[in-house]
Amino acid sequence: MLDLLSPAQQDPILSLSIAFRADARADKMDLGIGVYKDSQGDTPIMQAVKTAQQQLADSQTTKSYVGLAGNEAFNQAMTDLLLKGTDGYSRCATVQTPGASGALRMLGDLMYLAKPITTVWITDPSYVNHKPVMEAAGLHVNFYPYFDSVTKQVNPEAMLAALSKAGPDDVVLLHGCCHNPTGADIRTEHWQAINELAQKNGFTPFVDIAYQGFGDGLEEDAYGLRLLADSVEEMLIATSCSKNFGLYRERTGAAIVIGKNKQEATNAKGRILQLARSTYTMPPDHGAAIVETILSDDGLTKQWRAELDGMRNRIISLREGLSAALSARTGDSHFDFIKAHKGMFSMLAYSPEQMVKLREEFGIYAVGDSRINVAGLTESRIDYLADALIAVSK
Ligand code: LMR
Repeated sequence: MLDLLSPAQQDPILSLSIAFRADARADKMDLGIGVYKDSQGDTPIMQAVKTAQQQLADSQTTKSYVGLAGNEAFNQAMTDLLLKGTDGYSRCATVQTPGASGALRMLGDLMYLAKPITTVWITDPSYVNHKPVMEAAGLHVNFYPYFDSVTKQVNPEAMLAALSKAGPDDVVLLHGCCHNPTGADIRTEHWQAINELAQKNGFTPFVDIAYQGFGDGLEEDAYGLRLLADSVEEMLIATSCSKNFGLYRERTGAAIVIGKNKQEATNAKGRILQLARSTYTMPPDHGAAIVETILSDDGLTKQWRAELDGMRNRIISLREGLSAALSARTGDSHFDFIKAHKGMFSMLAYSPEQMVKLREEFGIYAVGDSRINVAGLTESRIDYLADALIAVSK
């Protein structure tokens, strides 16, 4: 049987980390996978997380199973963080999942179960895993225009023109904030236009929000999601604690479903639990227990929010520093888009050949589609990166 298998294609992001580790050059730089690094180049455990972990180590009395939906207090806390105050809050249901990737897959499977002819519309370009996960769930995937490689911002006219063709058999996947891989976010007025289209034409919005708090702030980053949750009848949400709690390896996320009424959401939750049972059964406990501990304690919540603000502000200052270093070299504002982008990533619109040159000649590892992880940069390496980006742009 196994002889029938051809070798697997490598994942464009995860394979970079392996190549980076194997590179012996001392001045190499990892701007590949979306992981935050501090000024020393380390990915620290947040202090609020450390305290919560300690409390759990002291107080947890059992390692018996959690239920299929995971930690229900965590589910409630994540729902509050995203949806409290919206109309959808009263008619939603939440399931803890192994990371947001787990949520994407569970929601993909749910869509297939409900309506196998569903087409999922994703941004062009999108997170490299969106298409594979949706296709693995059996769904058809369409790209809609999103990024303008000249302005390095969203092309709202092209995006809205494409989305005006989506109807009741379509699900439109939107990045809640900090678009992966481009860093170019949807502006307020265009969220409003999407919201109107969803109501007029009946497509279902599906918001993937993996970077809440990394763009403009926890509340600000939920603007588009909350606008939709206030108006549309049905909506899907995938959320992650990998970045904003720094819990990457704990695989902590959630799938949220908003239905026309509470009963619909409850039915959908039941079906997700069935799907989970036939996949991984139940999610791991540790990350969700940490998040629940933090969000149920005012002091720890305050500390977490302050640490998150610190990470966001540092990324913003790295963006400003890199833009300034590049402007000093070009004498123009060509690279100002780096400081206009939000979250961890920026798309440079460099060619695959230029990205290979960056890696081979300068030891700078970034995704082949020219996504750089600004949050992986350190202050002391800004000039090195700016020199390399100018050198390969010639
Ligand atoms: C990324 O885009 O780098 C992260 O979300 C890691 C992943 O799962 O691909």
